[in-house]
Amino acid sequence: MSDKPWGGRFDAPTDSFVEAFNASTDVDSRMYAEDIAGSRAHATMLNSQGILTNDELAAILKGLNEIEAEIESGKFEFLIELEDVHMNIEKRLTDRIGDAGKKLHTARSRNDQVATDTRLYLRRRTDDLITRIHALQSVLVTLADEHADTIMPGFTHLQTAQPVTLGHHLLAYVEMFERDMDRFFDARERMNQCPLGSAALAGTTFDINRSQTAEALGFNGPCTNSLDAVSDRDFIMELLAAASICAVHLSRFSEELILWMSAQFNFIELPDAFCTGSSIMPQKKNPDMPELVRGKTGGIIGGLVAMLTTVKGLPLAYNKDMQEDKRAIFDAMDNLEGSLRVFGDMLPGIKVNRDAMLKAAASGFSTATDLADALVRAGVPFREAHEIVGKAVAHCIKEGCGLHEMTEKACQAIDPRLTEAMVKQLSVEACVAARNHIGGTAPEQVRQQCAAWKALLES
Ligand code: ARG
Repeated sequence: MSDKPWGGRFDAPTDSFVEAFNASTDVDSRMYAEDIAGSRAHATMLNSQGILTNDELAAILKGLNEIEAEIESGKFEFLIELEDVHMNIEKRLTDRIGDAGKKLHTARSRNDQVATDTRLYLRRRTDDLITRIHALQSVLVTLADEHADTIMPGFTHLQTAQPVTLGHHLLAYVEMFERDMDRFFDARERMNQCPLGSAALAGTTFDINRSQTAEALGFNGPCTNSLDAVSDRDFIMELLAAASICAVHLSRFSEELILWMSAQFNFIELPDAFCTGSSIMPQKKNPDMPELVRGKTGGIIGGLVAMLTTVKGLPLAYNKDMQEDKRAIFDAMDNLEGSLRVFGDMLPGIKVNRDAMLKAAASGFSTATDLADALVRAGVPFREAHEIVGKAVAHCIKEGCGLHEMTEKACQAIDPRLTEAMVKQLSVEACVAARNHIGGTAPEQVRQQCAAWKALLES
């Protein structure tokens, strides 16, 4: 004999280790509010359709409210022998209200129930993520505006390339987070369909109203194929993909902050509240938060790979493998939300060492491209200009001077078309100011972009 809610055809009880191994309450109990909301909508619909009486519905709704209060006050004990959040709540309801509780599962299965709960839960968490991304973008735009004319080296291959403005650099991340937000909005829209009513896999023999439950739960409508509705986990894969890309953006940003805070760069200092010290080296102030955010990216990407691999070989419709979906996506949601929060809180306290950035921007022949451009303006074909400036750089490396310090004699010795007047005009300020077009690094552009972003973020 088995005392499970599904125990009728079983002779022997579940193996005690299997009971624990099979249970998912440690992971899915956090969906209790969505499970209760789904049950309220389902019971209300059953009543509208004449499947539950008014008294039965009233008892169910009252019982669900009490259970919700019990869970919220920490008094509810989730039992692993009841497997999951769904059976724990249903069993408790039946214990409290008796027969009406036993009727709640009419025209429903845990398969459509778990799919509904998970979509509802992740819809809420996606909204939270979108709010966090938005907040981080606002912080970045404010910082970018403050540093519209703070000059720093721009890198390719992590070698000095051309001077850029810090504001421009920060706005690059605002662009990335905007695409992240779009991906979350897009995934949210696609997952906002209600599986409820699909029952185990084929639908139900009862005269249900799926549009009513879908609407009551804020879905755009019911899923249109019952087999797909109970076996679809695309929304989890999509969210994990969007989360992975967003985490990768945060991780790249982290890497830059970590480099910039090193003594070798000395570009920034992160606030004390977001760093830690060393137990042995008294001088240390470590950028733990960006390091941790960079580290958590590995786990989020791992979740995506785990989910793709889990679903890859599954036949239609529901399979128990799917129970493993929640751990991956919940961890990813928690870690991404935490990472976004840390960045949003940490960045307003960043100290920028403008002098070190400016000095670094002026080193490494960062104005060489602009010298080539000056030659082009004087009629020299670009490829020849490139060659001439390359020789000038070689000369300066040998002499230990900058391009702007070359004498007329030295210029002429390299090429008669290269003049001292051209090299004298070179400055990092002129380099950035000259890139004054849509998407360029000029302070004027950065200010315009900040204004555009502010208007967008406030709308
Ligand atoms: N705990 C299960 C899950 O998360 C709920 C659905 C179980 N359905 C079933 N037929 N065993 O997937």
